[in-house]
Amino acid sequence: MLVELSAVEKLYNNGEENEVHALHDINLFVREGEMVCLCGPSGSGKTTILSIIGCVFPPTSGRAAIAGKKISRLPDHFLCLYRREKIGFIFQNFNLLPDLTVLENITLPLYPSGMNPANRRRLAEPLLEKMGIAHRKKFPVGKISGGELQRVAICRALINDPPIVLADEPTAHLDSRLAFQFMEIMEELKGDGKTIVLTSHDPRVYEHKAIDRVVEVADGRICNTAERV
Ligand SMILES: Nc1ncnc2c1ncn2[C@@H]1O[C@H](COP(=O)(O)OP(=O)(O)OP(=O)(O)O)[C@@H](O)[C@H]1O
Ligand SMILES: [Mg+2]
Repeated sequence: MLVELSAVEKLYNNGEENEVHALHDINLFVREGEMVCLCGPSGSGKTTILSIIGCVFPPTSGRAAIAGKKISRLPDHFLCLYRREKIGFIFQNFNLLPDLTVLENITLPLYPSGMNPANRRRLAEPLLEKMGIAHRKKFPVGKISGGELQRVAICRALINDPPIVLADEPTAHLDSRLAFQFMEIMEELKGDGKTIVLTSHDPRVYEHKAIDRVVEVADGRICNTAERV
């Protein structure tokens, strides 16, 4: 199992006046090489679940083991290091830095390791080629198209070759052709052995043939799981 969440609860602003009980008793297990889609209405807790899988923060209580390591009580610093090694996160708004170039954005996760620029480029170039954006590598990210932006975000998520790839509402800003291409890329990554968890209420995502399982979330609880045959 690459992802094991047992009896996971998440409270935002725990103990404060504005406390939000975002997740209740979440039990979710994802096998290596599986592609799972989390569905559900706005505010149901999809991003919160994805953030726990992505080692962005630990659950408030319950057990979360990601790629074999229990993250529930890891101090922030270790959680961050672990995230860098195991997780490729494609954020809903991409979280790219508009003034930096495509190449700089993609290689950003390599800076903390102290890798030299030549080696950073050596890792980035095959990814840029594969995603069809090599001709944009010196462009500032603020000056490229939406579809290209997403492919930059995918390259950045893959630069450390993580076993787990996560994407939050990945097709929200994409037209049909780009949404289709995005799912083709995910299918290819699955073929490479990556474990993938997506959130989406887009049928172009959750009805895609490469999705193994659709997990429905409502009011912070898993209410239905549909396994694809
Ligand atoms: N940082 C935060 N502080 C306080 N409450 C939060 C925070 N992030 C999310 N919440 C609350 O937790 C609940 C779950 O939010 P979450 O973002 O996980 O939902 P979601 O299913 O991803 O929604 P959407 O489809 O709109 O992205 C919501 O009630 C939300 O308002
Ligand atoms: Mg969300």
